Amino acid sequence: VSAPRSIYAAKLLEFSDLACAGDAAFDRRRRWHAFFRDRIGPAHTGRLVFEVGCSDADFLSRVAAKHPDTAFVGLDWKCKAIYDAAARVTRLGLPNVALIRGRAQDVLRIFGPGELDEVWVFHPDPCDKPAELRNRLIAEPFLVDVHGVLRDETSTLTLKTDHPGYYQWTLALLGLPEPDSFAAARDATADRRRSRTAPLAGDAGPATRVPRVRVRDLMPLDALPRPSDAVRRRFEPAAWSDDFWHDPVALAHAAGRPFADELTRFESRFAKRREPIYFVELRRRAGS
Ligand SMILES: C[S@@+](CC[C@H](N)C(=O)[O-])C[C@H]1O[C@@H](n2cnc3c(N)ncnc32)[C@H](O)[C@@H]1O
Repeated sequence: VSAPRSIYAAKLLEFSDLACAGDAAFDRRRRWHAFFRDRIGPAHTGRLVFEVGCSDADFLSRVAAKHPDTAFVGLDWKCKAIYDAAARVTRLGLPNVALIRGRAQDVLRIFGPGELDEVWVFHPDPCDKPAELRNRLIAEPFLVDVHGVLRDETSTLTLKTDHPGYYQWTLALLGLPEPDSFAAARDATADRRRSRTAPLAGDAGPATRVPRVRVRDLMPLDALPRPSDAVRRRFEPAAWSDDFWHDPVALAHAAGRPFADELTRFESRFAKRREPIYFVELRRRAGS
């Protein structure tokens, strides 16, 4: 056993009943349902949700408190975040939450085939410098792996992001066009630049809301990925929106889901600035 590398890796051992790190994160593979049956008891629905990048579980613990019969696993690669998350979950007494300090890319080592019902990726790191694009989580390798750990054709992966370039990227991977609002935002920004005004395109007036787009974060169309056949064989796009919280269709799609009424910390920040939250949900296809 190697020595813990950070003070928080060592301190995380205080919460070893619910949080783990390193190779221990792989020990519950294929045993998550038994683990949560013991912790939650007979009320456990058997549903298991995995949140990638849960940070200090501010959001996850609010959601888990409202859904005590559903099991949640939160993961982040920052030790301090998972330590803070474990302290929060313990303080709140949530037996339906477990935490992992680890990498999302290890999803196949953390969960067995068909163990998960939902995967949430809310506000992933944008990795938007040209050299970082290959590190984007929403990409073929991760999605192929996620398909392997989702249960059936009702299972989903949900992405929310404040980053229009990340949204464009995800749509492109699925072979979907970017929203019309992006082209309009580029044009509006070009006009505004000529008259040297606001950096955001669009107008958030209450009557006719046009999503405000951070044009500087849009990707050039020729830099977008090609549609991935491997992804499209494994997932169908179930819903997508360029303004989740103001889109009645997207809201109706998400209604009743555990994440439906809660904003993550990142999300709140952008919502306060009246910037749109982008949303994509993929439903697992059978086979592959
Ligand atoms: C931008 S923050 C968003 C946090 C939270 N989801 C929210 O919406 O407020 C992204 C989080 O994901 C974590 N993260 C990024 N890439 C990761 C990866 N590959 N594996 C695990 N955690 C990751 C970061 O440490 C960070 O806490």
